[in-house]
Amino acid sequence: MRRHWHRKPHLVRQAIAGFPGFLDRAAMVRLAQRDDVESRIVIRNGRSWAVHHGPFRRRDFTGLPSTNWTLLVQGVNLHDERGADLLEAFSFLPYARLDDLMVSYAAPGGGVGPHFDSYDVFLLQGSGRRRWRISTQDDLTLREDLPLRLLRKFRAEQEWILEPGDMLYLPPSHAHEGVALDECFTYSVGFRAPAFTELASQFLQDFADRLELPGRYEDAGAAPVTTPGRLPARLVEASCKALSRIRWTHGDVEAFLGRFLSEPKPQVFFDPPARALSERDFRRHLGRHALRLHGKSLMIYSAHTVFLNGETYQFPRGVPPLLRELADRRAVQGTDLPSAMAALLRDWHASGYAYFSLPGRRHANG
Ligand code: SIN
Ligand code: CO
Repeated sequence: MRRHWHRKPHLVRQAIAGFPGFLDRAAMVRLAQRDDVESRIVIRNGRSWAVHHGPFRRRDFTGLPSTNWTLLVQGVNLHDERGADLLEAFSFLPYARLDDLMVSYAAPGGGVGPHFDSYDVFLLQGSGRRRWRISTQDDLTLREDLPLRLLRKFRAEQEWILEPGDMLYLPPSHAHEGVALDECFTYSVGFRAPAFTELASQFLQDFADRLELPGRYEDAGAAPVTTPGRLPARLVEASCKALSRIRWTHGDVEAFLGRFLSEPKPQVFFDPPARALSERDFRRHLGRHALRLHGKSLMIYSAHTVFLNGETYQFPRGVPPLLRELADRRAVQGTDLPSAMAALLRDWHASGYAYFSLPGRRHANG
């Protein structure tokens, strides 16, 4: 963290020794057919490139060439609990920074071309080999003739061949290009950082929804006008004064961030369990099994507030340790919970936010 994070690239050989990945080509093709999954196919033909957006049909994959294309699937952690598990290996970073797990399958020669990302990313090699080339170049001008963001000039300075389990970390805006040497899978763990303009615009919208500014413009005693088209200076003054009363607090910003960063992406829906548990059964389960947050769930907390999937829960005396543990470790187990706490967890279970991982059946899916 001190040397590399958000500063400079870092190659880690055998970060996860021999990492085989958990998706094969058929599983990737199945994901790319779902309409709640964001997917792309990128095909290179010499200096020209084509991009197609999913959802795809099975037959879209039969006519593809044997080389120089790749399929990219975004948000794999939302749809496969093994993806969510993989993200836990990166829990030395705050979940508020975490974006998603993208997986790419590439035919030999496949890749998305030389580019840069605005996110921090860990590129973990699954099966197959990929050659990565990177550059510290400042010139990040893009080609304008293409459907994807590729650098006009890419001057590679370093290169490595990554084998299964090797991982390359790249900070934002670092030019890179990965080309598959054989059929290969790359698992990209991406970390978002809010862009301040977007943050401000979201904050102000959210703030406006909650804003109350009592009073209304008054102009009792105003003199008759001969220039009725003119905007009254008094109206401008009064408005400036009223608007200058708008204040937001540290608490408003914190509450907004919690909601904003824990809000699921628009295509995310939770599946409630087939059978809701009675309070007694729920308590019994919680004594024996771990209650895990579903891979789709985003849970963060501050001193007095828990934010779960865009919802807010206040704890004036401080967030209870059990809920902090659920947020940090994404799983809890417990007996003798106070009834308000048991009711809350049972509610989250009934909403599909969390599930019991039974022995030998760790996952709700996958
Ligand atoms: C890939 O997996 O092909 C692309 C990953 C990246 O360069 O960001
Ligand atoms: Co990239």
